[in-house]
Amino acid sequence: MKKIIIANWKMHPDTADEAARLARDTERALPRSLGADVVIAPPFPFLVPVRAVLTRISLASQDVSGHEQGAHTGEVSWQELVATGVKYAIIGHSERRMHSGETEDMINRKIRTALGHSIGAILCVGERERVGADIPPIVSEQVRSALASVRKEMLKNLIVAYEPVWAISTSAGAPVSDTPERMFRARLTIEKEIAACSDAASAKKVRIIYGGSVAADTISVIIREGRMDGALVGGASLDPQGFGAIVRRATEAGK
Ligand code: PGA
Repeated sequence: MKKIIIANWKMHPDTADEAARLARDTERALPRSLGADVVIAPPFPFLVPVRAVLTRISLASQDVSGHEQGAHTGEVSWQELVATGVKYAIIGHSERRMHSGETEDMINRKIRTALGHSIGAILCVGERERVGADIPPIVSEQVRSALASVRKEMLKNLIVAYEPVWAISTSAGAPVSDTPERMFRARLTIEKEIAACSDAASAKKVRIIYGGSVAADTISVIIREGRMDGALVGGASLDPQGFGAIVRRATEAGK
C-alpha cells in the first residue's frame, strides 16, 4: 500500500506569509521522485495561501464540521473545505478530544460527513496513559464508535492514525516514541475492529499510520518493524529539512 506522510501543523505558524514560506520550503525539501503521498494540514486561515504554493503535496484540514450547512457559528463545512482544495480532514485528534470537548458522537458525525463526501478522513485514536505491551480496549472502542453506521464502500477513503497520547511530543515526559512491537499490535487491533464493522477485505484497504514524536531517525523502524502505512507528524513537520528526510526515508522503507 502506498505510504502517506501527513504534516499536522496544529496552531502554527502565526501569519500567512510564514505559512506560505514553510509550505514552499517543505516542497523543496522533498525527494525528486515521490514514492509516498504527502499531505499538509495547516490552520484553517492558511489553507488558501498554502494551497497556492503546493504542487506535489495535498491539502488537509485539521477538522471538519459534522453539520452539513446552516447556523453553526465557528464551524467549517465539508463543502467549504472541498471548495478550498482540501482532500483530507484530520478528525478526532486527541487535542480536540481533550481540550475542545469533542465526543465520540461528534467524531462519528464528522467521519460520516467526510467519508460520505469523498474527503479522506484521518481518524485519530489512542490511549492517554502509557500502559504495558497490550493495546488497551479504548483504542478498539474509539474505532468502533467512530465507524458506527459507516458503509463499507466508504472505507476506502479512511485512514486511521494510532497516536498514543503519551507519545505526542508536547505531552509530559515526551518526546518518546512508542515501540515498533506496540505499533504492530495496534495495527492488528485496529484492523480487526474495522473488519468487525465491515469485512476483512475492506479493512485491508484502510491505511493505518502512526503518530507521536515521529522523527527522521524513527520513521524507517515505524514502517518496517511497526508495519505502519505512514505517519502523522506534528512538531517535526515544522522543520522542512527534517520533514523532507522523513518522507525520503518512509519512501525507502516502504519499497
Ligand atoms: P508530534 O505530534 O509529532 O509533535 O508528537 C503528533 C500529533 O499530535 O499529531
